[in-house]
This record gives sequence, structure tokens and C-alpha cells, in this order.
Amino acid sequence: MFNFHKNHRNLVIVSLTVYVFLSIIIAIIPAYKLQTVQPLPNQNPLSVKEQAGLKVYVAENCAACHTQQVRNIDMDKMWGDRPSMPSDYFYSKKRLDVWKQSPSILGSERTGPDLTNVGKRQAGVEWHLLHLYNPRIVVKESIMPGYPWLFVEKDSTQISKNDVVVPVPKKFLSNPSKKIVAGKKALELAAYLQSLKQTDLPEAARPAFIPASKVKTITATGGQGALPDGKALYAQHCAACHQPDGTGLVGAFPPLVGSPIVNNTDIDLYVKIILQGYDARSDFGVMPGFAEQLTDEEITAIMNHERSSWGNKAEPVKLEKVKSIREFVMQLNQ
Ligand code: HEC
Ligand code: HEC
Repeated sequence: MFNFHKNHRNLVIVSLTVYVFLSIIIAIIPAYKLQTVQPLPNQNPLSVKEQAGLKVYVAENCAACHTQQVRNIDMDKMWGDRPSMPSDYFYSKKRLDVWKQSPSILGSERTGPDLTNVGKRQAGVEWHLLHLYNPRIVVKESIMPGYPWLFVEKDSTQISKNDVVVPVPKKFLSNPSKKIVAGKKALELAAYLQSLKQTDLPEAARPAFIPASKVKTITATGGQGALPDGKALYAQHCAACHQPDGTGLVGAFPPLVGSPIVNNTDIDLYVKIILQGYDARSDFGVMPGFAEQLTDEEITAIMNHERSSWGNKAEPVKLEKVKSIREFVMQLNQ
């Protein structure tokens, strides 16, 4: 039946099925998941001008030399206050039009610096315009190419009052009697670059660069038996990320409502996540560990709050079980 040499129909049907199946897994499902990502609280949308600038960025292929992703590793600390997460790209992931996919601005080459936060480092529009016209004007040793075609040369007499004249020093001009005026695209691109700033997250909701790893015992001062207030502890330590109603934020923090980890009878992984932090999936940020901050009593109380709230209905966990998991994790770390 599967004789491909003789039966071409089989060959076509099988390869088509495999092709469609792989396309769904590799392209369609990820593209669909991307559409459900939510923006961070107080994330600024791109203005019309900045959106146009993003198109220039893509068209000029700036991503060939520049990344826009702060990775969760120590050497990337200089490029942002925190590692990047899918929500950061909420406003730039929009399709350009029906035919064009959302631009890939992540980049993989860092011939030039990462631009995630360049709007904070270089705030002035004039700097960007000079740099785009010819990078050597502002950075003497720069190897970045200039983009003079985004500008127009004009005689002094042709300058109108709406023209943005770029103060290019004479020695960078091929014809010193001309003035350099920023074109529409140059202004859009500069506005886009100025807008590149990592959205600030409150301290408590800021993913760590390297998840804390050392696990120590800290004992509660309160009396044995009675557990502290899990709801208050949740509000203090977890709600900034997982949200007060446990629904999380698609692209940044997973929901705890209906989470198989939270509702599982086996709580090993659950306790380990709270102690050591978690960075298992690329479609969320990084969770820091709480081993240094929370006692076993507090962790038990938080877990019981999460397991019995927002529609979660799992059995309460026992303090002894949480203690023994911490001891086990400590031994592994020695
Ligand atoms: C051939 C590689 C290359 C290409 C292509 C390139 N750049 Fe650069 N870029 C660099 C290098 C190298 C630097 C560092 C030196 C400098 O500041 O000029 C840099 C620096 C920058 C900076 C300053 C970063 C900082 O931290 O101060 C900005 C902004 C920038 N580039 C934007 C762009 C834009 C926008 C484009 C596309 C129009 C582009 N670059 C294309 C290599 C490149
Ligand atoms: C800085 C933000 C942040 C804080 C604060 C935080 N988390 Fe998380 N949490 C995350 C992220 C991000 C993930 C997903 C990590 C991954 O999968 O890569 C996560 C995952 C989890 C998971 C796994 C859920 C699942 O279904 O995958 C649990 C359980 C959890 N967190 C519990 C807690 C508890 C309890 C607290 C408070 C003590 C807390 N988190 C505080 C960011 C945070």
C-alpha cells in the first residue's frame, strides 16, 4: 500500500499530511499563541509615527546588526533592567498588513549594541538623526553604515520652516554649501528609536536575571500549628506578577487559576518553584525564588490560599510535607 515508487498518489497524500501537520505545530499554533499575549501594565503603545519608524527599521534591516532582546544571563544586564518577555513585544508584533507577517525584531547578531533600552541611553532626536546620517559624526570609531538616503540635500534658499535641518559638520558633507534635511522616514525611525524603553515593572514584579539558587532553612517565629495569613502573604509576595485574582498575564506570568501545578496532589514541583524560582518556558518571564524570604509556615499558608481561591479546589497541604521538601532541596544543593 505504501509503495511510493509505484503509487504517486500515496506519495503526495503522505507528504502533504506530514507537511500540514508540521506547519500546524511549528507555525500556526505559535502564531496563534502570539496573538493572545497581553501588554504589561503601563506599557506605552507605539504612536502612528513610531509604528511607521518600525517599518523603516525592518525595511533597512537594522536587525542584521542589532538585537532587541535582553536574555536571562548576567552578560545581558547592561542592556536592560530585567530580562525581556513576550509581553514586551505586544505593540510591535502587529502584522504590517494582510500579506506581511509581524516583523522579527529580536535579531540574532549583535554587531552593534542591543537596542531594547536605547531610548533611555540616547534620548535626543538630534543625536539619532546625526548618527543615522553618518554614525562617525557622533561615534568616531563606529563601523555602522550611514543611511544618507533617508535625508535630503537642500540649498539654504530651499529650506522651509517645517524642515528639520540636521547640523552635520562641514567635513562630513560632500558638498559643503548644502544643508542636510531629515526625510520623513528618518524622522519616523528616530522617533521609533527614542521610544525603545523597557517598561518599568514594580520591584516585586521584576523577573530576576539569575534565579536565586541557594536554599537555607528559615524558621517562623510564630507559634507552631497556627499558620500565618496566606491571603495577605499572597498579596504581598505573589500578586504583583500572578495578579490579585490569580489570572496572570499572558506572555509574562502564568495563571494560577486552574494551574495543574497548583492543584496537583503531588506538591514537590510546586514547593520547589516557590523556593528556587522557575524558568521553564520561553512564553513567560522568569520567576525569582523565595527560599530566603519565606518560612515553611508562610509557604504552606500561601499554597493553601492558592489551592482554595478563585475556583481552585484542591486539598490543603501539610506543613510537614513542605518542610521535608525544603530539606530535600537543601541536600541537593550542598
Ligand atoms: C553593519 C552593522 C550595523 C547595521 C546594519 C546597523 N547598525 Fe546600528 N550600530 C552598529 C554598531 C557597530 C554600533 C556601535 C557604534 C555606534 O554607536 O555607532 C551601532 C550603534 C547603533 C545605535 C546606538 C546604540 C547605543 O547604545 O548608543 C543605534 C541607535 C543604532 N545603531 C541604530 C541602528 C539603526 C536604526 C539601523 C538601521 C537603519 C542600524 N543601527 C544598522 C552596527 C550596525
Ligand atoms: C517576579 C514575578 C513573579 C513573582 C513575584 C512570583 N511569580 Fe510565580 N511565576 C512567575 C513566572 C514568570 C512563572 C512562569 C515561569 C516559567 O514557566 O518559565 C511563574 C510560575 C509559577 C508557578 C507555576 C504555575 C504553572 O502552572 O506553571 C507557580 C505555582 C508559582 N509561580 C507560584 C508563585 C507563588 C506562590 C509566588 C509568591 C510566593 C510567586 N509565584 C511569585 C513569576 C512570578
